[in-house]
Amino acid sequence: GGALAQPSHVKHWDIDTEFIMEQGIRLPESHPIHKQIGMIGITDSDLSLLRAIKPHLLPHIASITDIFYATILDVTSLSEMIQSHSTIERLKKTLEQHISEIFDGVIDEAFLKKRFKIAEVHHRIGLDSKWYMGAFQNVQNGLIDIIHQHIGDSQLQIRMVMAIMKIMNLEQQIVLE
Ligand code: HEM
Repeated sequence: GGALAQPSHVKHWDIDTEFIMEQGIRLPESHPIHKQIGMIGITDSDLSLLRAIKPHLLPHIASITDIFYATILDVTSLSEMIQSHSTIERLKKTLEQHISEIFDGVIDEAFLKKRFKIAEVHHRIGLDSKWYMGAFQNVQNGLIDIIHQHIGDSQLQIRMVMAIMKIMNLEQQIVLE
């Protein structure tokens, strides 16, 4: 337990909430993905928030991928899958890079293409959706835990968590389709 304990020595991030709002959704208006983006209400404000915490979050990402792989290695079939297709070290780097890129707060053709590629790779190695979703939940838990520890303002906490949940939901919609 104690995952949500907040040690008093933890320093709160000094987040620039006056950040410049940038257009994060960069796709032609006719693009079909707008329907999915609109359904869960991802806005440029959400994406700007993600960008605002990226520099604070970066030093903590390795701790998330550590948990991610510890839980994966507990499942024999997944452990074997990694051994026959990659290495822990390589996958850790891949995932760190991937989480970091989510916080660029940009949804464009490259964003979509990368998710299609992830789906393709996971399909090729035979990764079941249930394991992908379980692993994904752990990444999300890790991010929320870090947000909870480092953002003092509860309004900002919630906005941040919602922005993360939305972009990660979109990601799963695309990868699992
Ligand atoms: C490949 C992300 C879950 C095993 C990848 C790639 C990404 C990725 C970005 C690289 C795709 C490319 O080549 O462009 C994720 C995310 C996950 C997830 C975000 C969930 C949070 C899993 C799980 C496993 C797994 C649960 C099971 C062990 C692999 C393997 C590769 C791969 C073996 C090929 C890696 C290689 O080429 O070395 N994944 N993955 N992934 N993933 Fe996942």
